[in-house]
Amino acid sequence: MANVIIDRVGKIYPNGFVAMHEANFEVPDGSFTVLVGPSGCGKTTLLRMIAGLELISNGEIRIDGKRVNEVPSKNRDIAMVFQDYALYPHMTVYENMAYALKLRSLPRDEIKNRVDSAAEMLELNHTLDRKPAQLSGGQRQRVALGRAIVRNPKVFLFDEPLSNLDAKLRVQMRSEISRLHNRLKATMIYVTHDQVEAMTMADMIVVLKDGYIQQIAPPLELYSQPKNLFVAGFIGSPPMNFMNVSLENERRLSGDGFSVGATEELAKLAVMQKQKELTLGIRPEDIHDRLSRIDVPPDRIVSGVVEVVEPMGSEVFVSARISSNLITARFRGDLIPEVGSRIELVFDMTRAHLFDKESGARLVE
Ligand SMILES: Nc1ncnc2c1ncn2[C@@H]1O[C@H](COP(=O)(O)OP(=O)(O)OP(=O)(O)O)[C@@H](O)[C@H]1O
Ligand SMILES: [Mg+2]
Repeated sequence: MANVIIDRVGKIYPNGFVAMHEANFEVPDGSFTVLVGPSGCGKTTLLRMIAGLELISNGEIRIDGKRVNEVPSKNRDIAMVFQDYALYPHMTVYENMAYALKLRSLPRDEIKNRVDSAAEMLELNHTLDRKPAQLSGGQRQRVALGRAIVRNPKVFLFDEPLSNLDAKLRVQMRSEISRLHNRLKATMIYVTHDQVEAMTMADMIVVLKDGYIQQIAPPLELYSQPKNLFVAGFIGSPPMNFMNVSLENERRLSGDGFSVGATEELAKLAVMQKQKELTLGIRPEDIHDRLSRIDVPPDRIVSGVVEVVEPMGSEVFVSARISSNLITARFRGDLIPEVGSRIELVFDMTRAHLFDKESGARLVE
């Protein structure tokens, strides 16, 4: 096992395209670190540089304290699991898992022990004689995991390994990989564009956009203290609501069609930025139905007209129109307002954020 240090790593592809700008972070030994971001942000590029499948244009990558820029992939002691499992179709499950060990000329008994133990861990014992075509998607994915496990690598790298699975299987495999991580205590770097996967699996999340790191933080910190509008909007579903606002007087923020009382802290931040345009950010779960609350401060109520209602069973997403703003709130499942009706929303301003509209940065003291 090992830590991985990404030290001012950049990537310029031969056509001149800069896919990564000076990425800097450390993946501690035994950590499960997730790289997340929208399509094209550079996740695969970064993972392939760590794997040695892509040249590093600038900076240095160190695995277990050793610079690996010039070390060929096969000598980096890493194992990679891809989105397409890339199993050998003509080999059995056993042979697929044993293959890399045979190439390394490990003794037969040692190979058998390692494959049996991985198969046991992944509940593949009954499928060892089958060919990949005779397996379900989830089983194939587990064979791909098994192939990585038997190698006992210093670092596991995953590139969207679950995206070919249906929704239910994805949830199941997600917890299997988490369990595997707890058991092996291995260093894992996991790429996904799915923020739910990132939130549920990671110790540490690295959010990327357009080749730039936006924020590095544990899941709940990312959720409650996003650094900028991009992170705030990317993490969380339905996403955080954003509204253009300005400071109306010392304690009120006003936007198109509404005005709401600010907390002392938000008011202070807004005063400090007085020349600038501001964006108010508030998550759907921090907006409540007036009727479900007692003792609501009157200055926290915002009135709108219900435009969309999405009942999910345990909860309902209600989108209300407030002039040009369409605001989504998350209510208890049995609080289903009628489309077209007027609704009073209570903003929990203690949980709201202010951002500098132009730079996108969240305002902090
Ligand atoms: N060989 C290449 N030459 C030039 N540009 C490339 C090359 N490979 C990737 N890119 C570009 O680099 C950027 C990052 O690509 P990358 O595959 O790392 O994105 P990603 O975050 O993994 O996206 P996805 O979620 O779609 O897999 C993209 O804009 C892509 O078009
Ligand atoms: Mg990719």
